[in-house]
Amino acid sequence: MCGIVGYIGFRRADKVAVSALKRLEYRGYDSWGVAVKSNDEIKVYKRVGAIGDVSQFELCEGTISIGHTRWATHGKPSDVNAHPHTDCNGKIAVVHNGIISNFQKLRESLEREGHVFKSETDTEVIPHLIEKFIDSGLNFENAVKETLKHLKGSYAFVALSSTEDKLVACRYKSPLILGIGDNEYFVASDVPAILEYTNRVVYLHDGDTVVLTRDSYEIYKDGKKVNREVEIVPWSVEQAEKGGFEHFMLKEIHETPKVIEDTLLEYVSDEIELDVGFTAGISDVIFVACGTSYHASLIGKYLIEKLAEIPVRVEYASEFNYHNAPLSRSLVIGITQSGETADTLEALRKAQKLGARTLAITNVLGSSVTRIADVILYTRAGPEICVAATKTFIAQLTVLYVIALRLSLLSRSEVNEILADLKLLPEKVRAILDMEDYIRKIAEELANYENMMYIGRGLGYPIALEGALKMKEISYIHAEGYPAGELKHGPFALLGKQTPVVACVLRDETYDTMLGNIKEVKARNSPVVALTDKNDSEAEKFVDYVIKVPSTNVLLTPVTYSVVLQLLAYYAARLRGCEIDRPRHLAKSVTVE
Ligand code: G6P
Repeated sequence: MCGIVGYIGFRRADKVAVSALKRLEYRGYDSWGVAVKSNDEIKVYKRVGAIGDVSQFELCEGTISIGHTRWATHGKPSDVNAHPHTDCNGKIAVVHNGIISNFQKLRESLEREGHVFKSETDTEVIPHLIEKFIDSGLNFENAVKETLKHLKGSYAFVALSSTEDKLVACRYKSPLILGIGDNEYFVASDVPAILEYTNRVVYLHDGDTVVLTRDSYEIYKDGKKVNREVEIVPWSVEQAEKGGFEHFMLKEIHETPKVIEDTLLEYVSDEIELDVGFTAGISDVIFVACGTSYHASLIGKYLIEKLAEIPVRVEYASEFNYHNAPLSRSLVIGITQSGETADTLEALRKAQKLGARTLAITNVLGSSVTRIADVILYTRAGPEICVAATKTFIAQLTVLYVIALRLSLLSRSEVNEILADLKLLPEKVRAILDMEDYIRKIAEELANYENMMYIGRGLGYPIALEGALKMKEISYIHAEGYPAGELKHGPFALLGKQTPVVACVLRDETYDTMLGNIKEVKARNSPVVALTDKNDSEAEKFVDYVIKVPSTNVLLTPVTYSVVLQLLAYYAARLRGCEIDRPRHLAKSVTVE
């Protein structure tokens, strides 16, 4: 996720920008850059790679700066695509975090008017729009305000002008804070960037524009000046990196609503905007993936088969490499959040050799998979620091919903109904996050056991598999996911007081059978935790603990239930004192077969 900073005051502004950016390194980045106003000129320095030495800025003495760490979303990581971006004459510089969803149309119309673009980024339209409005007679501040009227999507950006001692920063659906020092002001994506200089901050609201001069700041919303409370940050720098959360995993789970919103923004406006030409003439779909991405694939299979009636199978990428039948009419979809998992890359290469068309779903722009697959669809989860995947899994599911709905045989109104529910998912996830204390208490009960089973039927089965994986990888409790109907074919032998069972109960055609399976488990003395719909009052009668999950279309329960199971694993692991963000023996990106 990009990090942005802005400074106006009395210090060497290049040094402030660089040190603030270093404090944002935890957000993940592939390139970085700084712009400094020096006399009536803007000097820009930007590079791919790690944040460099400030001595590179010998010529950039000045006391106003902006800076950026880029995590590529539009345009590969490169010096040219790194921020800051400037207008045609280098008089305006901008750093931006977020996605300008209408950038293509804006860019085409600006190019027709003679603006020359240098990068592939969505961001570059912002300085050009500001330039355009300045040329039409507005001052810098009003030109930025006018620009906002043309932008769609999500953004936090800071703009710098070569002719005014002023910064203008705007926030809409991407984070931005204002830091208040003595005769100096800061803006940044996150608190750690500025804690070295001040702990007095204003958390800007969506739609806020802040205008900073050396001795004052003013905040505007909807054209009117507004007052916002100044808050004192009570955290150390280390705590602040995690946004006050104890672990990155918990922070990342809490980012889920935003991740769903950002990923939907990429593919859905009023309708789904996804070109599915890659499915023309295919006879079947094969998913190849590992770990959590494999579980996302199982859910993808269910959705595509149910909604589009296309046959789908799912293979562990590491096993697919032993597959040899021709695949000339198959679409092979590789899901890999990192885009670097060796087995998945190899499986896609193998699929291509066998004649298949390939599609990759990944979270990392420019990753290896993007150079292999024929078509790439990105998730918009931002970088994930914790080894165990949480928000990237939900982002993968979001893309799979978009694909399945786009290919669906349902009527337009039925599709729109599910789409409307999909757009409500962030709200449902927020409601789950409000239940955190309750989930923590149940997790603390489970933390005392050494073996667990997770069960589900239909769509509930891959949810159970992913729930069990999360539990085992971070708490080291031996947890297995099973189709509920399979328990009696062997695993029953392991049930008893010492083996709790987590049952994923869905309000669909599996419901009654699932209740029957729970009763069988209870008859063998296993404690049962059931996840069920908020409006269900039946399941709770047979179980020891019930977690009532906010109601949604049953097809979307993999999202809501999985967030509950992620929290359950997190709190069990926390009570067991595990190293949650870096579990033993595991790696975030597995680049060997
Ligand atoms: C590793 C990680 C898992 C992840 C798997 C697949 O094992 O620890 O969390 O699910 O790799 O990763 P990918 O990047 O291909 O989705």
